Amino acid sequence: MSYLELENISFEYPNQTLALNQISLSVEKGEKLAVVGENGSGKSSLFLCLCGIHYAQTGRYIVDGEEQRCKRKDRNKLFRKVGYVFQDPEVQLFASTVEKDISFGAINAGMKGKDLEACMDEVMEMTQTHELKKNPPHQLSYGQKKRVAIAGVLACKPEVLLLDEPFAWLDNQQKKNTIQILDELHQQNKTIIISTHDINFVYEWANKLVVMKEGRILAKGHPHELLEDEALLEQAGLEMPLILQLSKKLNLESRPETMEAFLKD
Ligand SMILES: Nc1ncnc2c1ncn2[C@@H]1O[C@H](COP(=O)(O)OP(=O)(O)OP(=O)(O)O)[C@@H](O)[C@H]1O
Ligand SMILES: [Mg+2]
Repeated sequence: MSYLELENISFEYPNQTLALNQISLSVEKGEKLAVVGENGSGKSSLFLCLCGIHYAQTGRYIVDGEEQRCKRKDRNKLFRKVGYVFQDPEVQLFASTVEKDISFGAINAGMKGKDLEACMDEVMEMTQTHELKKNPPHQLSYGQKKRVAIAGVLACKPEVLLLDEPFAWLDNQQKKNTIQILDELHQQNKTIIISTHDINFVYEWANKLVVMKEGRILAKGHPHELLEDEALLEQAGLEMPLILQLSKKLNLESRPETMEAFLKD
């Protein structure tokens, strides 16, 4: 059985918007999964269900072999396994200093003393938030807030990291730093799930892709296969990655791997 298993999950908001419609998905440990789809297709709603902030009304959700139910103690346990970095860091940050914000979840989970110190050092190093630790979060730039939000989730040491649009509004350098964090997490064999509109990044980075539309999964598979499928891209309102567009323009019939090798020469 996979680490995360969703079977026919449907989720409706109180105003009766059906945000997720019969979602089935398996995620293995160590996977790099990207979720794409136009605005309102259900990406954030899916993440909110995966981390237990929302609970699907129908379907089964199994994490590490345990079925999740709508109970408080299950939810606290789930938070420790599946960490969610909000799309908007403003929603996530609330403490009076960066340091307090980052340590909040870890302290709540019972971490203290030397363990807490070591954990804080590690995550602040990884997210380059050391020099910000005494600052009030509301005075930070957007990119800095994003880093603090990631640090707070990492401090809880979840197995699975959900990052909802981690690159939105970031400049090039901040984006590179965030990608470096993703790479380090992958090296630690963490499972990483991101939602993004950056199709070029998805093509290079992900080993599994989920394409959503109107609360449904339109397609799932390897990005190199799905992102070549013009009918799927049209239906999902997505652009073809630049490298594939270029390859088509040059009228090369080679595989994308060959194209990458060609561009490197
Ligand atoms: N709190 C809410 N109450 C009611 N409806 C909501 C709520 N949050 C989202 N929705 C609706 O659920 C659907 C899915 O929204 P969701 O935010 O999951 O999409 P998304 O793919 O993350 O979009 P985006 O790319 O804009 O972030 C949309 O129709 C949206 O209007
Ligand atoms: Mg969203």
